[in-house]
Amino acid sequence: MNLTSSQIQQFHETGYLMLQGLFSSEEVGVLRDASREIYGLSRKEVVREKDGKTPRTAFAAHCYNEAFRRLGRHPRLIEPVMQLLAGPVYMHQYKVNAKAAFDGEVWQWHQDYGTWSRDDLMPEPRAMNIALFIDAVTEFNGPLWIIPRSHREGVYQAGHDLDTTSYPLWTLDKATVRSLADRNGIYSAKGEAGGVLMFHSNLVHASSPNLSPWSRTIVYLSLCHVDNHIQRFKRPEWIAHRDFAPIQPLHDDCLAEIAATEEGRSEAEPASMAT
Ligand code: SIN
Ligand code: MN
Repeated sequence: MNLTSSQIQQFHETGYLMLQGLFSSEEVGVLRDASREIYGLSRKEVVREKDGKTPRTAFAAHCYNEAFRRLGRHPRLIEPVMQLLAGPVYMHQYKVNAKAAFDGEVWQWHQDYGTWSRDDLMPEPRAMNIALFIDAVTEFNGPLWIIPRSHREGVYQAGHDLDTTSYPLWTLDKATVRSLADRNGIYSAKGEAGGVLMFHSNLVHASSPNLSPWSRTIVYLSLCHVDNHIQRFKRPEWIAHRDFAPIQPLHDDCLAEIAATEEGRSEAEPASMAT
């Protein structure tokens, strides 16, 4: 799948691009089932909120779940990023963020490349996120807030916040966020399940806690140009990957295929005994 020249221009200008309805409800359904399954696992990659039980994020799900493995090589996600980064890409990080109903906590204001450069020594911001909404994202369930155009001035000064949530983050100070938001406003990335948000690795973003009864699962693929791979291996491999081989996209039906198999299986199951 290719972006148009006006979409590319919009990405460079504002630092993001929202593409609604890119995946079907069947494809998203497969991933929703898969996310429930992985949040039920006891693995180091599944990080819980501070309460120790609510899932916050599952790292590296493409390494231990078939549906997420396929999503990690999906042409509708990989090809537009290859286009924007002008070449082959590898998976730097893979997260399935839960933002669970009632208990999903804040993600403080930050830039992803701020972390990737400080912690992983990624040479340049030739990396970006492409995120797929697995649930509808509304004003109620903690949509991602982004500051348009905030990707244009490099990496801002940040402090390493080890306390606010269960996951350490390099976060921006209030004065920087206020000045950027006063100039550019804030865009709240909302949409139905199946929508895709692409954003620059220097774009400033955050999300508030989820007080609503509706979970908001989003999968983030953080892709990096293969020539720009990280130089330091301080963080665990499942947080900052070390396989720098170019991703070869699968075929467009790779997820729909699982949905069709599951449908076939449930049709073949014996009828319920209920009267
Ligand atoms: C992130 O910035 O990496 C995740 C934010 C979110 O899912 O709310
Ligand atoms: Mn982020």
